[in-house]
Amino acid sequence: MVSFFTYNTLFTLTIIFLPPFFKLTNANFSEQFPADHHVNNQMSHLHFYFHDIVSGKHPTAITVAGRKNKFGGTAIVDDPLTEGVEPGFKVVGRAQGMYAMSSQDASSLLMVRNFVFLEGKYNGSSLTILGRNQFLENMREMPVVGGSGIFRFVRGYALAKTERFNVGTGDAVVEYNVFVMHH
Ligand SMILES: *[C@@H]1O[C@H](CO)[C@@H](O)[C@H](O)[C@H]1NC(C)=O
Ligand SMILES: *[C@@H]1O[C@H](CO)[C@@H](O)[C@H](O)[C@H]1NC(C)=O
Repeated sequence: MVSFFTYNTLFTLTIIFLPPFFKLTNANFSEQFPADHHVNNQMSHLHFYFHDIVSGKHPTAITVAGRKNKFGGTAIVDDPLTEGVEPGFKVVGRAQGMYAMSSQDASSLLMVRNFVFLEGKYNGSSLTILGRNQFLENMREMPVVGGSGIFRFVRGYALAKTERFNVGTGDAVVEYNVFVMHH
C-alpha cells in the first residue's frame, strides 16, 4: 500500500525500484495519499501511456510549421491516454497541445500539453505541462505548472519514459508517471 509512505520515501522507492515499477502495464490509473499534514494537501500519482501517432490516415500529431524532426518543427497533438501500454486499453484521457523542436541539435522539445482526464472524479479536470523534453533520454522530467477542476492550485512534476518507438513510422508510446499536490 503506497499510502503508508511519505512523499520522500515514495520518491526514493521510485528511484530504487525503477525497472520493475516501470514494467507494470496494468497499474491503477491513480492513487492518493497525504502529502503534507500541515496544509492538508493531497498528493496524487497518475499513471498512463500516451500514444503519439504520426503515420497513417489518422495521425494524432501533425506538423504545422517547420520541418518534422528539424529545429523549429512544430506539431499539434491530440493523443489518447490509456491505462495500459497497448492501444486497446481503456482510454483515461487525452493529451492535447503542441510540441516544438527547440534545440538546434534536434535533441529536445518544448512541450506544451494539457492532459484532460475522463475517469471518475477526474472527469473533465486537466493538468498543464510546460517543459523541456530531451526525448532521446531514457527518463525525462517536466514541470506540471497548473490545472483545472479537481487540480486547481496544483503543482508537481511528470516523469516520461518512451516505452515503444517505431523507427519506420515515428509512432511512439510514452509512459507517464505524474505526481501532483493539490487541495
Ligand atoms: C489497485 O487498486 C485496488 C483497489 O483500490 C487495490 O486493491 C490494488 O492493490 C491496486 N493495485 C495497484 C497495482 O496499485
Ligand atoms: C465524463 O463526463 C462527461 C460529460 O459530463 C460524460 O458524458 C461522461 O459520461 C463522463 N465519463 C465518465 C467515465 O464518467
